[in-house]
Amino acid sequence: MTFSQQEQQISREPRRLLITGGAGFIGSNFVHHWCENYPDDRVVVLDALTYAGNRQNLADLAERENFRFVQGDICNRPLIDALLREEAINTVAHFAAESHVDRSILGPDAFISTNVVGTFTLLDSFRHHWENQGQLDGDNSSENRSNYRFLHVSTDEVYGSLSSLDHPFTETTPYAPNSPYSASKAGSDHLARAYYHTYGLPTIITNCSNNYGPYHFPEKLIPLMCINILLGKPLPVYGDGQNIRDWLYVGDHCHALDVVINKGQPGETYNIGGNNEVKNIDLVHQICELMNELAPDLPVRPAEELITFVKDRPGHDRRYAIDATKIRTELGWVPAETVEGGLRRTIEWYLTHRDWWQPLLSDEYQAYYNKVYANA
Ligand code: NAD
Ligand code: DAU
Repeated sequence: MTFSQQEQQISREPRRLLITGGAGFIGSNFVHHWCENYPDDRVVVLDALTYAGNRQNLADLAERENFRFVQGDICNRPLIDALLREEAINTVAHFAAESHVDRSILGPDAFISTNVVGTFTLLDSFRHHWENQGQLDGDNSSENRSNYRFLHVSTDEVYGSLSSLDHPFTETTPYAPNSPYSASKAGSDHLARAYYHTYGLPTIITNCSNNYGPYHFPEKLIPLMCINILLGKPLPVYGDGQNIRDWLYVGDHCHALDVVINKGQPGETYNIGGNNEVKNIDLVHQICELMNELAPDLPVRPAEELITFVKDRPGHDRRYAIDATKIRTELGWVPAETVEGGLRRTIEWYLTHRDWWQPLLSDEYQAYYNKVYANA
């Protein structure tokens, strides 16, 4: 726990959180972060358990006091209304989303439903809940409601694609989403912004770069490469492999979101990034080197022999990079992990958690994999 968290622990009122998408990759890391750092807070996780949600990610919290898991859809208004009321929620941390660009190209419908309609449903339900609280409190309304927050967790992809010479994305970079995924996230960001400006609802938006770490679903670049190396399967690098992403260890992201909930200003946007721009092909080489070092029984060694350039992703954004000056200067957050250190920790986690990822390579997953890599 950091010094500032220890300070908050002493002085703060307990929060009552609804964490949507808490059984997914970042959401489950965040739930663990919050439960460890704020054991007196009430944590309610709402997750539909889609293919990307996994109850196992939260298994160790099942018996915990102050913790509740609810399987349900963020588009289900009566369910959200009831949960906010009966749990007296004052903080929503909204992670639930369809999150994979390749799936959004194959089938955008679910992205519009969850990311746009689901976010609208949550915002509108939380607005009524917050307004009702104001009416119940009468004269004390502003004091009692000052703690309310709606954290909308979003992505740097809403800003579009950078060339190699462009300045990294700032909070004022115009939106230019290029995939159905990023367009749906952009729509949800606009709704969160509008609810602050129109109703005064205390929403905060964060736009973060690529995360990696434990509990990352196998379809994404880093876990996909790790798992394929362990299985001796080709490592599919899209296009020329020169696309750039700004990688952030998931624990650093969770810490940033903690700081934003506790110290961020309603109505503001904060960009979060790792200051770690890496070309895809260089990242894949780093993963291969670490695997060669850490995994004794690789089916193909050196792992680099498996690298295969495949057909590019349609509309593939060339470069993402985040300028995280605002969150550093205003809220004091900086990432702690380097890509080298974070990758080593992540690979060690995948090596010791075969029982976590093996069941995820289901028939449904294989069917998806065959579709995306069919023409590879
Ligand atoms: P993920 O796909 O691993 O998890 C998404 C979770 O949401 C799953 O548990 C799923 O079951 C749940 N979910 C999906 N639809 C739902 C619905 N209709 N109702 C309730 N639950 C539903 O995603 P992630 O990578 O952990 O991303 C979490 C959030 O962070 C997303 O909003 C994403 O846009 C954002 N984000 C992700 C990254 C990244 O690198 N992964 C970077 C920046 C921002
Ligand atoms: O930037 C934040 C975003 O990062 C999040 O909003 C998304 O939810 C998250 O999925 C991630 O999106 P990307 O498309 O950048 O991540 P992905 O892991 O799918 O791909 C990373 C890069 O690697 C990208 O340039 C595409 C490339 N790639 C990916 C896969 C799965 C490959 O070359 N081969 C692959 O097989």
